Amino acid sequence: MARKAPVNSPVLDPRRLPRHIAVIMDGNGRWARRRGLPRAAGHQAGMASVRALVRACDELAVPVLTLYAFSTENWKRPPAEVRFLMSLLIEFLRREIDELHRRNVRLGLLGRRDGVPATVLKAIDRGMAQTAANTGLRLNFAFNYGGRREILDAVEAWNRQTRRPPLTEENFAKFLYTAGLPDPDLLIRTSGEMRLSNFLLWQLAYAEIVVTPVLWPDFRKKHLLAALTEYQQRERRFGGVEAVHA
Ligand code: IPE
Ligand code: IPE
Ligand code: MG
Repeated sequence: MARKAPVNSPVLDPRRLPRHIAVIMDGNGRWARRRGLPRAAGHQAGMASVRALVRACDELAVPVLTLYAFSTENWKRPPAEVRFLMSLLIEFLRREIDELHRRNVRLGLLGRRDGVPATVLKAIDRGMAQTAANTGLRLNFAFNYGGRREILDAVEAWNRQTRRPPLTEENFAKFLYTAGLPDPDLLIRTSGEMRLSNFLLWQLAYAEIVVTPVLWPDFRKKHLLAALTEYQQRERRFGGVEAVHA
């Protein structure tokens, strides 16, 4: 199935949309606390934001969307919260995979499999197998993901090769979890925090960063459009003196 033509928008230039949007979905705990609810309620509510964002990216014909769902550091959280976050990915896929498939979305996983419960891996593997031939939006979940770990894994993978390619930036990127994907042009972080938290350290080298105070469970299409509008107003120079338009 061919990609849809990008939606016309009075403010957005459809020819200058990011090829890859990465999102640090943060603020679920604060959203819940403000309502006097347990943190899990914030994570649960965040699922609707994921659904809305995926739909919006599909409608805009953004090629790649990567969502930071669980970091290698998130194992430090209380065991019950970790278990809840694991089960939430299973629930999300159970509820959404058919619609994702209908939308021609292809599911991907960025992260280490070890330590992740078999039930979660099974759900992801089934989702990836079901959508493997799809040609639309590439939706990656960064799950049990750490940027430093990814770089070390890439070094190990490179080192295992019998005929090691020379270590150029281009060759090295082929050993990262994101092999074959364009680097994110835009990083969105919700809930106001101005840090990377070990997300896509290599790939975000030249990403435009938009931090919004909106907490993840409140994030909707209008917030994405606002971030894209800001993105399109940025002058990207990549170290040169002139603006570069991708
Ligand atoms: C993001 O929300 C969800 C994950 C890290 C999985 P948080 O749970 O970090 O929410 P805050 O930062 O405590 O508000
Ligand atoms: C980053 O958020 C990880 C995810 C969104 C999955 P955190 O809430 O874990 O980040 P820190 O601890 O505030 O840096
Ligand atoms: Mg947080």
